[in-house]
Amino acid sequence: MACALVTGATGGIGTEFCNILAAQGYDLVLVSRSEDKLAELSQRLERSYGIAAPIFPCDLSDPDAADLLYRSLVEQGITVNILVNNAGFGDQGAFLDSNWARQEEMIKLNILALMRLAYLFGNDMRTRGFGRILNVASVAAFAAGPYMPVYFASKAFVLSFSQALGEELRGSGVTVTALCPGTTATGFWGAAGMDASNVFSLMGAQSPRSVAELGVRALMAGKPVAIHSVPSKLANIAARLVPRRVSTWVCGQVLKRRV
Ligand SMILES: NC(=O)c1ccc[n+]([C@@H]2O[C@H](COP(=O)([O-])OP(=O)(O)OC[C@H]3O[C@@H](n4cnc5c(N)ncnc54)[C@H](OP(=O)(O)O)[C@@H]3O)[C@@H](O)[C@H]2O)c1
Repeated sequence: MACALVTGATGGIGTEFCNILAAQGYDLVLVSRSEDKLAELSQRLERSYGIAAPIFPCDLSDPDAADLLYRSLVEQGITVNILVNNAGFGDQGAFLDSNWARQEEMIKLNILALMRLAYLFGNDMRTRGFGRILNVASVAAFAAGPYMPVYFASKAFVLSFSQALGEELRGSGVTVTALCPGTTATGFWGAAGMDASNVFSLMGAQSPRSVAELGVRALMAGKPVAIHSVPSKLANIAARLVPRRVSTWVCGQVLKRRV
């Protein structure tokens, strides 16, 4: 069985990735921590689209989780042709006042798990001469983010890593796409301890469906980077034109007001 693996399948953007890929006839492997939500999603997708959607509940910030997931799929004879590294979270607040364990967990999930899954499945894809990897970065990748510094830095890592890996794999049949969503109406904001209505009034609220649609199109086309929404595209241009200290100050003013 060849399929698409989606991490963070039970959240806003992740569930839409699953809906779109299932509608296109892909079998899926669904990954997140909540077993009950995964089971519900799996049943709905299997019933609605006639695909197979096995679940793998795990905490990907656990250092062994990515390897356990990989080994389990190899043992079951499941081949991953499409990897969607979507699971991630943010945490708002001044760094020195933050909960250290939460920052560490963020690095383990947003960076280490994403890297490890790309390493394990990417090697198999390269051997087979085909594969598609989508790493979910963010508009946050374009700037430094005071009052959310670890999250912004983690997404800058995802963007840089994805572009570099994609270049290394040029001509191998394996492509790597970094998706940069802007502010999207999902559970992300609550999990980060932020007031979504305030952020949305400033930056707009994108629908997770439209973000996932762009992501799947870019993934299938093997595009290196896909930026969703006009405000994010403007932020990307501004980050190139404006001195870094200025963009850092602006981000700090925006994020500070939400603390
Ligand atoms: N929403 C936005 O405005 C926005 C903007 C730019 C980028 N992004 C990025 O988009 C991606 C998806 O976020 P979202 O907006 O859809 O957020 P979300 O609704 O909070 O979904 C996050 C998903 O990740 C899973 N997850 C969280 N921690 C996990 C862990 N330790 N191990 C395994 N799974 C875990 C969650 O399920 P469980 O809780 O069940 O584990 C959930 O399925 C993230 O990488 C985020 O940084 C979001």
